[in-house]
Amino acid sequence: MRQKIVAGNWKMNKTVVEGRVLIEGLKDLVGKVTDPVVLVCPPFTALTEIAMSLKDSEIRIGGQHMHEADSGAFTGEIAAEMLLTSGCSHVILGHSERRALFSETDEAVNIKAKKALSAGLVPIVCVGETLEERETGNTEKVIEGQLGGSLDSLSESDMKKTVIAYEPVWAIGTGKTATPEQAEEVHGFIRKLLADKYGSKIAEEVTILYGGSVKGSNAAGLFAKENIDGALVGGASLKADDFAAIVNAMV
Ligand code: PGA
Repeated sequence: MRQKIVAGNWKMNKTVVEGRVLIEGLKDLVGKVTDPVVLVCPPFTALTEIAMSLKDSEIRIGGQHMHEADSGAFTGEIAAEMLLTSGCSHVILGHSERRALFSETDEAVNIKAKKALSAGLVPIVCVGETLEERETGNTEKVIEGQLGGSLDSLSESDMKKTVIAYEPVWAIGTGKTATPEQAEEVHGFIRKLLADKYGSKIAEEVTILYGGSVKGSNAAGLFAKENIDGALVGGASLKADDFAAIVNAMV
């Protein structure tokens, strides 16, 4: 059985006080849910505070980004150990916004993923095509390239611990969700790529999340698909009711 996950990516939203309000609301609604795993990824500044608020809850927390070095002169960056000791179990890597706005490459994502795994964090590795890439028929080529680069030389045991998020760039923050069929097609393709490289047993164990305008109203249709194991949610993770509706679509 694959682990199901509903993860909220708060992006650059919520001060510490605002984050605490959101998390108290979420605790009331889904604080005891263990399947799916409910994960929130607040900004770095709120991690410690949110982790404290979550002590009596099943909700877990993750980082949105990470640097691969242990420590040092990397102004503005955060190390794996800092995330771990702030209470994180997961870290999002290679989100399309990091790739597009901060020039993160597959190679960089690969180095970070290996560092996260060796530190004991679960990497959530994001891949996804742009609208132009989809319209020119290049979706599979793009996904294969991103996955190949981002997961390069990961061992079998590391692959089993890694989570993949398929997030078509054209669906992120646009209100335009991929249909369950469009998403399932790519999720199935990703699982086939994993099976080619690691064998079908390991491929069957890897959690593959969908992300891109997931809401309470479209989540159940996506989750009904065989290869969609949960969601990485942006906008709808910023309100407790909206996020809980997505979690409840899977419970
Ligand atoms: P969205 O963002 O749900 O606002 O489309 C998803 C994401 O960027 O992870």
